[in-house]
Amino acid sequence: MRVLVTGATGQLGSEVAELFRGAGHVVFAPSSKELDFLKPDQAAGMVDQLRPDWVINCAAYTQVDNAETETAAAFCINRETPERLAQTVAGYGGRLLQVSTDFIFDGGQGWPYVETDQPNPLGVYGCSKLEGEQAVLQALPEAIVLRTAWVYGVRGHNFVKTMLRLALAGKPLRVVDDQTGTPTWARDIASAIAVLVAADARGTFHYTNAGETSWHGFACAILDEAAAVGFKVKTEDVTPIPTSAYPTPATRPAYSVLSTEKIRPLLTAPIPNWRDSLKNMLQELYKCADCL
Ligand SMILES: NC(=O)c1ccc[n+]([C@@H]2O[C@H](COP(=O)([O-])OP(=O)(O)OC[C@H]3O[C@@H](n4cnc5c(N)ncnc54)[C@H](OP(=O)(O)O)[C@@H]3O)[C@@H](O)[C@H]2O)c1
Repeated sequence: MRVLVTGATGQLGSEVAELFRGAGHVVFAPSSKELDFLKPDQAAGMVDQLRPDWVINCAAYTQVDNAETETAAAFCINRETPERLAQTVAGYGGRLLQVSTDFIFDGGQGWPYVETDQPNPLGVYGCSKLEGEQAVLQALPEAIVLRTAWVYGVRGHNFVKTMLRLALAGKPLRVVDDQTGTPTWARDIASAIAVLVAADARGTFHYTNAGETSWHGFACAILDEAAAVGFKVKTEDVTPIPTSAYPTPATRPAYSVLSTEKIRPLLTAPIPNWRDSLKNMLQELYKCADCL
């Protein structure tokens, strides 16, 4: 199969490209310069030239706070270009998987969100991702939309690496404890994507690791598990703080746990608990000289 992975330098895209390559597929992984989502016409033209069987769209404008002011770029990258790619793919009979986010929900529900729950994004990033989902499904009804959350990986920038760097330097840590979600390893999401593609699935699915925690709980686990795999962590405690003590330009959902009930019957193995996956990722990070 010929697979185009966009956003292949990112946390998720790098895992997806590696997984599909390892499975023997022909993988195109252009850089953001070669396939620029700020240039929808050119991006669509490139996809039309390549005509891959599948486009796995992991490219996104992911800076949640900056999106509040860089609105045009966020909508171009997260809605307009995915829509153009879906139209292009529909034109030659290909398939597309669009990755989306828990931030399309407002977090006020208090129990895990299922795929059919009413979205109500709180910020520009969530709005642009929601409109991207809708535009893709309208252009290509057999597309897959995969929503995930709190992503981290060995490659790219993320909360795990930030906490670890600070803890290795012995810096004090203050982390919000009133936002709940599910930390999710990009490697596990890539596996779920491969399963959905192989199953010829269509429609919207949620995938995260199992369980839930707060950012504070996540930070504490990062320090514990990092020490357990051999990192010389100097910071001992993480101070819990309320969101109100750490104001950000974009409002985040207070509770954005996603239900994985719909995807579970399709998967070939149980979904790993978030803490087990964190440990596995940290083990890999420990062995990688230039990943941190
Ligand atoms: N990170 C999270 O916590 C999280 C949570 C829920 C859902 N998601 C979703 O998961 C998906 C993958 O996220 P991620 O965490 O892997 O993101 P990431 O690490 O920030 O990677 C984003 C990717 O998009 C590319 N990109 C940015 N601007 C581009 C442009 N103008 N043209 C082409 N490519 C461009 C980046 O390329 P460069 O490196 O060249 O800029 C990078 O490869 C996204 O759809 C995101 O919305 C993420």
